[in-house]
Amino acid sequence: RKRVLSGAQPTGILHLGNYYGAIRNYVDLQENRDAFYTIVDLHAITVSHDPKELRESTRTTAALYLASGVDPKQATIFVQSQVKAHTELSWLLQCATPIGWLERMIQFKEKSRKLRNMEGDDEEEVKRRSQESVSTGLFTYPVLMAADILLYRADLVPVGEDQKQHIELTRDIAVRINDKYGGKKWKKRGGRGGRVLSVPEPYIPPVGARIMSLQDGTSKMSKSAENDASRINLLDTPKQIETKFKRAKTDAFEGLEFGNPERPEATNLLSIYQLATGYNKESIMRECGSMRWGEFKPKLAEAVIASLGPLQSRYNELVDDPAYLDAILKEGAEKASGVAEQTVKDVKDAMGFLI
Ligand code: TYM
Repeated sequence: RKRVLSGAQPTGILHLGNYYGAIRNYVDLQENRDAFYTIVDLHAITVSHDPKELRESTRTTAALYLASGVDPKQATIFVQSQVKAHTELSWLLQCATPIGWLERMIQFKEKSRKLRNMEGDDEEEVKRRSQESVSTGLFTYPVLMAADILLYRADLVPVGEDQKQHIELTRDIAVRINDKYGGKKWKKRGGRGGRVLSVPEPYIPPVGARIMSLQDGTSKMSKSAENDASRINLLDTPKQIETKFKRAKTDAFEGLEFGNPERPEATNLLSIYQLATGYNKESIMRECGSMRWGEFKPKLAEAVIASLGPLQSRYNELVDDPAYLDAILKEGAEKASGVAEQTVKDVKDAMGFLI
């Protein structure tokens, strides 16, 4: 059976971008595959965090996986920090990852620039400020992510567009480990077909891979954006959802259309409508092509409220039963550890450690 692995950070509450870009596909992919879905709490501490909030968000995120339809009977759901192999493999991989590969990571550049409060591109100033405010963990973050994936020998990794570069890095790291330590020597020691690690593929959906901010159609919807009105959180009330769409940025063009580069907000809001209703583009254009924003927005809000309804009621049942959630996470961590420890053992053996 094919293996699937993915994860989301427990920072705040998952939003529509996380849902359409990734979590919904966790659900589709769990059937007929061996799926592992993790809550990556170790990644959440790469920027400054509050312990109480981390504790809460970790449980909320796990509950939202379940509420979204991730099924513990089919998939293994676990908290990353509860499986020790993640930090262990991460170190082994770090030592095989050139600094230059990490310096190219767009997400690191963006996040560290934001932490430094910088707009411009002055390389010297960037360097000076980063020495104080950017953690080493933020820099090595993609290697920990590679460990998450490689530990389970995942074939497929469902993610949004923004994680594509990290998956490419993961592939490069796996190939490098295989080149350095795999092949004949490793086969002789009993290694699987000479390959120490499997090389994964990203699974990026055709629609929803990059949901944009409601306040600016050129920047992506994000948990860390200061303005809460820029995103729809999966636990927002119907009233909040209505208000956020009502205030969403639009344009002064006539009618509505997909794909006009001058109208990023129109493309984004229509795509959200497409995802919430399941209609295809043609029928949406027939229905909404000549609408005004004032007519379309309440329709959009209604569709999103309806599509989140079942998820929210499942969530409310789950928070009433914390023991159930704990039991699932405990079982998940045990099962994940079994698989992950075998991989660490293989990598260590191939690299020359006494095991
Ligand atoms: P995170 O926590 O930022 O986001 C979780 C998932 O949601 C996707 N996503 C989006 N998709 C569409 N539109 C958006 N606006 C949007 N914002 C976020 C992300 O692509 C992601 O799939 N580094 C990862 C977490 C991670 C991981 C892993 C993922 C750690 N280890 C191993 C896969 C496999 C992250 O920060 O995702």
